[in-house]
Amino acid sequence: MNPRNLKTFPKTHLSISVALPLVAFLAFCTQAFAQPESSSPSQPVFRLDGGDTTYAFGVNERGELQQLYWGGRISAQDAVPPAHPEKELASFDSSYNNTPQEYAGWGAGLFQEPALKVTFADGNRDLVLHYVSSTKPDVNSLEITLKDISRAITVTLHYKIDPESGILARSATIENSEPKPVMIEQAAAASFSLPPAHYTLNYLTGRWAGEWTLNRETIQAGERVLESRRGTTGHQANPWFAIGKGDADEEHGETWFGALAWSGSWRIVVEQDQIDKVRITGGFNPFDFGYQLKTGEKLETPVFYAGYSHHGFGGASRLLNHFTVSHILPEGPNPKPRPVIYNSWEATEFAVTEAGQEALAEKAAALGIDRFVMDDGWFGQRKTDHAGLGDWYVNKEKFPNGLKPLIDKVHSLGMDFGLWVEPEMVNPNSDLYRQHPDWVLNFPGRPRTEQRNQLVLNLARQDVRDYVYGFLDKLLSENQIAFLKWDYNRNWSEPGWDQLPPEEQKKVYVQFTRNLYSILAELRAKHPGVEIESCSGGGGRVDLGILHYTDEVWPSDNTDPLDRLTQQDGFTRAYPVQVMMAWVTDSPHWLNGRTTSVTYRMLVSMQGSLGIGGNLNKWSDADLTTTKRLIAAYHQVQKTITQGDLYRLISPTNGSEFSATETVSPDKSQAVFFAFAHSTQEERGFPRLQLLGLDPTAEYSLTSIEGKAIPGTPAQASGSWWMNHGVDLDLHGDFQAAAFRLDRK
Ligand code: DGJ
Repeated sequence: MNPRNLKTFPKTHLSISVALPLVAFLAFCTQAFAQPESSSPSQPVFRLDGGDTTYAFGVNERGELQQLYWGGRISAQDAVPPAHPEKELASFDSSYNNTPQEYAGWGAGLFQEPALKVTFADGNRDLVLHYVSSTKPDVNSLEITLKDISRAITVTLHYKIDPESGILARSATIENSEPKPVMIEQAAAASFSLPPAHYTLNYLTGRWAGEWTLNRETIQAGERVLESRRGTTGHQANPWFAIGKGDADEEHGETWFGALAWSGSWRIVVEQDQIDKVRITGGFNPFDFGYQLKTGEKLETPVFYAGYSHHGFGGASRLLNHFTVSHILPEGPNPKPRPVIYNSWEATEFAVTEAGQEALAEKAAALGIDRFVMDDGWFGQRKTDHAGLGDWYVNKEKFPNGLKPLIDKVHSLGMDFGLWVEPEMVNPNSDLYRQHPDWVLNFPGRPRTEQRNQLVLNLARQDVRDYVYGFLDKLLSENQIAFLKWDYNRNWSEPGWDQLPPEEQKKVYVQFTRNLYSILAELRAKHPGVEIESCSGGGGRVDLGILHYTDEVWPSDNTDPLDRLTQQDGFTRAYPVQVMMAWVTDSPHWLNGRTTSVTYRMLVSMQGSLGIGGNLNKWSDADLTTTKRLIAAYHQVQKTITQGDLYRLISPTNGSEFSATETVSPDKSQAVFFAFAHSTQEERGFPRLQLLGLDPTAEYSLTSIEGKAIPGTPAQASGSWWMNHGVDLDLHGDFQAAAFRLDRK
């Protein structure tokens, strides 16, 4: 142990370690104090190792916290040299500006994206953060305290590395100890830096019914801003990125990735600076932001998760998705596979009735469905989207005896029951709005812009928060509801909070989301059996923040199977299959009129967490028989599909006429692969599929779930055969699909 390094860690942690058994204590010492020789009391170097990754940063001669290394894991013996600031570039870019700081205050001539920007009570806006101290709460965590060079603003940076994946969780707590309030104008969770190189940025964009478009572009000088100003996560961009170095591709090369755990307005800036370094800064969106901190108050940022893989973009998504299942989801690390659901929305829209729902429930149960979900239309005066939101009592015309008869019927059919709600919204045509017109986001005296005939309740208000929690608690207490589909069908406008003094009103951007999370947490604690889906007109609220409180998400209102192939390709880059609900709906499809077979539709959805969302009253007997058979086959391999390692063998993006995915169980005992051809031409065969991720020495048997391999394909062969020789499929025509399983002998 290098005694000089003890100063880096406070005495409290030494005394904790005394209580540890000797072996654990020695392990702790090795990890916690194995600082390189170069680490000195005035310029400590900090290092976190996990999985295949090392992250290191240190204090430079000026006292700034500077990133030193983020990449493949380096030997524990390697000393990371201490930090030295970058030099000034001519007279235009100061050393402060050029130095890759871990959390830069806006001051001292900073032109890069700041992590923190404040205005003090006297108008001073200069903030320069210097290192003060550090603690090491446990072997995988660090807490670093920074303080402004003269003012009493402190920032505690939180670091935690996951020992398995090497994924780092970073966030910041900003505290004002000045005698007067301070206005926070910009607060990031973290900044990450990469050295000069040729990089490709991947990010996801979209719109309603068109989410999850993967964009790929070379990182060039300047900023690429990924953001939502909408008060919520948004369909238009998702708070996730992946960056590949050089010619990194799906399975090869160095990649860095990150995702922000926040369901309010957010921003991630990827910038290449004037000395070709790349900096990624993410946190609250500074647009219209302003969070006043009174003396003694603190602001906590969301968590920005980030990691590294040397197995390309596929490796990056596998790492992140396993991490999400293990460490983010409320039921992690071993959430049960999602029940196969039936949802009534596309069958009935608002025209729900007791008899109609029961008829659908009977048909669903006959297919082997696990959960029946009644969607919009069951409450208040909800006959169209013009009325009823906010009035969460059962509509007596549609359900004269309440929900109990329907729920009992669903249970008697062997399914559990789920219900749609949209708690944060109100129709002006509702009892709630007539009683509490002041409860919505609004600027007094200004128009209240409606979207889908609804307004947004100001969930930041305590009375609104209590009302929303109260009606949901009552609903769950009085009915046997196993699942809530929690919808959110518009974004913000006129985001005023006129209960508060003007200088505090913009806190709505933080408090709304915090109250949403607290309602979800409290509901889950009180009703532990209840599962929740995050839906926002499709995939408008999918992020690692909401996924901490919800079990699944609805990726898109677009259920067209061909469109879903590309959406699922994009979605799974950032989020696990476990949470990706995928319904099979009617053909021709309502959105674009495309006609596809039920087999094709089923196989597309079986790549996710399966559901059926069509009007079963209209399905042919043949289609119902096929669906039942495939649901049974899905149940047998669902855990592999939803919690295994996903390989995108052929991506459907860029107009590819073919696509294929493969998922391998973590113990490599099973693999399931799917293949799709949307229009083969000139008798061209399906590309040979060389599988990935199998145990090369094990023997695997091949079983068709649907479709055929070409004659002569062995019924059993080694993992190395399937990975090197591969499989040729007999797949021709329009919208054709096949699926197979490999089981280790
Ligand atoms: C939008 C959702 O995405 C749909 O699935 C459905 O629940 C409707 N809202 C109901 O209004």
